[in-house]
Amino acid sequence: MRTLITIISVLFFMGCQTSEKPNYAKVTKEVPQQKDTTIKEHPGKKLMETNCYVCHNPTANHENRIAPPMIAVKKHYITSKTTKEEFKVALQSWVENPTKEKAKMFGAVKRFGVMPKTPFPKKTIDLIADYMFDNDIDQPEWFDEHYKSMKKNE
Ligand code: HEC
Repeated sequence: MRTLITIISVLFFMGCQTSEKPNYAKVTKEVPQQKDTTIKEHPGKKLMETNCYVCHNPTANHENRIAPPMIAVKKHYITSKTTKEEFKVALQSWVENPTKEKAKMFGAVKRFGVMPKTPFPKKTIDLIADYMFDNDIDQPEWFDEHYKSMKKNE
């Protein structure tokens, strides 16, 4: 009987050890993985680049553009007083139904025509707006000068 108890308790012990070991390894492995996800890019960045940069990219030069760069859009929509919620609502409203009457970028409408209406999921626009509000958007080299001269003419 004694030996049986010993065997059972040894097995029990081993059982504990083996079940604890992989757990331990898992925890130490998960920590750096979690770090990776916090460094990961905002999902709105990728969505903006795939859905909007076809036209709003920061790399085309000023002459052969088909739409203003996103930084210009941002500067027209976000002032120091704009809240993120207000910006999200404004961007949703624009993308859902872009019209000449609603446009804030008159110069762009004149030059490029009104943005074509394209159905985007609400969630996509929400993430893009979230990204645009919180982050610096890439801007083309010519943009600063151009922006200053546009402001002067306003
Ligand atoms: C097919 C080309 C095209 C795509 C794709 C596109 N846009 Fe535009 N967008 C334009 C053009 C052209 C203008 C400038 C004329 C205007 O304001 O309507 C513009 C202007 C805008 C404006 C300013 C509107 C105003 O008040 O005048 C916003 C905001 C905007 N786009 C958001 C977006 C977002 C967000 C996406 C991606 C989800 C996107 N656009 C994708 C062509 C495009």
